[in-house]
Amino acid sequence: MKLNIGVVGATGAVGRKMLEILEERQIPVGKLRAFASARSAGEKILFKDQEITVELLTEEVMKESYDYLLFSAGGDVSEKFAPIAAEAGNVVIDNSSQWRMTKGVPLIVPEVNAHVLKGYRGIIANPNCSTIQMIVALAPLHRRYRMKRIVVSTYQAVSGSGQKAIEELTQQMADGNHPNEVYTRKIARNCIPHIDVFNENGFTKEELKMVYETQKILEDKTIEVNATTVRIPVFYGHSESLYMEFDETPSVEEVKEILSKAPGVVVVDNPSENQYPTPLEAENTDDTYVGRIRMDLFNPKALSMWVVADNLRKGAATNAVQVIEAMEGLK
Ligand code: A2P
Repeated sequence: MKLNIGVVGATGAVGRKMLEILEERQIPVGKLRAFASARSAGEKILFKDQEITVELLTEEVMKESYDYLLFSAGGDVSEKFAPIAAEAGNVVIDNSSQWRMTKGVPLIVPEVNAHVLKGYRGIIANPNCSTIQMIVALAPLHRRYRMKRIVVSTYQAVSGSGQKAIEELTQQMADGNHPNEVYTRKIARNCIPHIDVFNENGFTKEELKMVYETQKILEDKTIEVNATTVRIPVFYGHSESLYMEFDETPSVEEVKEILSKAPGVVVVDNPSENQYPTPLEAENTDDTYVGRIRMDLFNPKALSMWVVADNLRKGAATNAVQVIEAMEGLK
């Protein structure tokens, strides 16, 4: 059966990837419609060598019938338009943070909790990019050893802030005087420990997403997460340094074995040969890479590791397309 798919935010960094990945993963698309704001309505984009005209997003077009609507146009757009589309009977896969913590809205990493989608229609939320790659690597370890506490620091690429941020870094690398429009500081030759807005408890919203989304996906509110999220001058691919404490004592060998069998995970861990994942090598791939797996020096139930994935792909567009695959039983 051919699927009727709409992409909202089709001209953005994630929206473009969604089109690319629908094509690449050979999703049987019958009709594809692309929506954006008045800024780019009327522009032509390519999908499977065919020119598609970008349409203006309106309430009326969201009331039409689609098999799937993929949203990546920011929280405000999702807040307004996703419920209209869902009300009309459509399945919405939303990449914004707008509906992630709403009760009854499934928050999905297909490798981990696609089972909750059975028979579901309505809004489905894609987790935050940093949460997705962390969960892909952690869920199999949580199942085996029970996770108690995670301390994570992120090294996040500018593409996570959208197309404007990619241009800002490009310009600042070419011309050091380009103004800081997306970020509070110059991002070229810098790192900025500030992603999304600050909460009164001192954490940023991005950091709190990693806490509460992890608990929701793993269905365990007792897991303690302490996150520090940092923007760095890399274009594509987020990296994460993870320290995890478990109920049971893990071993490096068994962790490697579990992770090498886990769906969507590739272990790249041979320090003596300088083998470990980096964002440049993860770029344009769909897997989550894990390396630097090592026991803590002091706590026998704790382990550290390094996790890397392409944030626009597994952290956003691929995850959304995998939700379609899971619902259609395609994979
Ligand atoms: P547009 O090209 O018309 O600005 P990014 O995350 O790379 O900044 O992309 C954001 C995406 O969301 C773009 O496709 C952008 O379209 C779209 N978008 C932003 N605001 C709106 C809006 N109010 N209505 C529809 N699409 C929007």
